[in-house]
Amino acid sequence: MMKTIGDNRAIGIAGAGRVGQALGRLLVECGEPVIAIAGRDTIAELPGRAARILIAVPDDALSGVAETLAGAGMSDGIALHTCGTRGPEALAALSARGVSCGVLHPLQTVASPSQGAAALKGASFGVCGDREAVAWARRIVELVEGEVLEIQPESQPLYHAAAVMASNYVVGLIDAAALLMGEAGIGRAQALRALAPLVRASVENALTMGPEAALTGPIERGDVETVSAHLRALSSVPEPIRELYRHAGLHVAGLACRKLRNHE
Ligand SMILES: NC(=O)c1ccc[n+]([C@@H]2O[C@H](COP(=O)([O-])OP(=O)(O)OC[C@H]3O[C@@H](n4cnc5c(N)ncnc54)[C@H](OP(=O)(O)O)[C@@H]3O)[C@@H](O)[C@H]2O)c1
Repeated sequence: MMKTIGDNRAIGIAGAGRVGQALGRLLVECGEPVIAIAGRDTIAELPGRAARILIAVPDDALSGVAETLAGAGMSDGIALHTCGTRGPEALAALSARGVSCGVLHPLQTVASPSQGAAALKGASFGVCGDREAVAWARRIVELVEGEVLEIQPESQPLYHAAAVMASNYVVGLIDAAALLMGEAGIGRAQALRALAPLVRASVENALTMGPEAALTGPIERGDVETVSAHLRALSSVPEPIRELYRHAGLHVAGLACRKLRNHE
């Protein structure tokens, strides 16, 4: 069985994609001993060189990578993965061999290694797992001046659904708004430029004033005719956008009612 050699603080990163490279850059900037960022062909070399391994591969590849690391002799040390939906049990093959396993999920969008390295500074991170794994995860969050969110493994899918809504769904909403602008005769580039101040102010207000105080618009004012005109106009656009408007509108109506109640 291969045992870890050298510095037992050495860090190896399995997965040379966006998150793997971004975390690698950031940890090196913080003076941490990152000895390798391994692509899929070199992951099996990590256990011989590092006792602490960060795994940043697609969610569905996690258990296979854990098996690769276990098969390559990892039988002590710590492994953290960066997936928001799966718990430490995704690394079962390593747990079974005595490795302390956990989760370090960056609550941030990482679109490229350089953008990610900058954006992960000060971000929040979802953390759970075995005691030693959580202690290392907390240390990493401290180094990048971020905030720890303690998540119970069974709550991870809900926590991650929230993250997806706040990130990917905002992107999807902006795309849908630009498509509707296109239907109204405004070109995509001009539409995105025009929407930018509106999106930024809405997001900023919601985050600083809170969603209730930030909410404006026809649903909040009770302008029923305006909403009816929207629904009539949307009858000719693709169904997913029409349904998005209707379902998001139901939530916004609930928010408007809450606002009304709280100000009565
Ligand atoms: N990007 C984000 O915004 C973000 C934010 C928070 C958390 N995360 C989480 O971080 C993890 C990585 O996401 P990412 O966006 O960095 O992904 P990514 O950019 O697609 O990179 C994934 C890496 O894993 C490698 N890989 C793919 N399939 C593999 C396999 N079967 N075995 C071994 N390696 C494999 C890829 O190698 P090849 O290049 O050879 O395919 C690539 O280096 C995911 O769990 C994701 O949920 C992502």
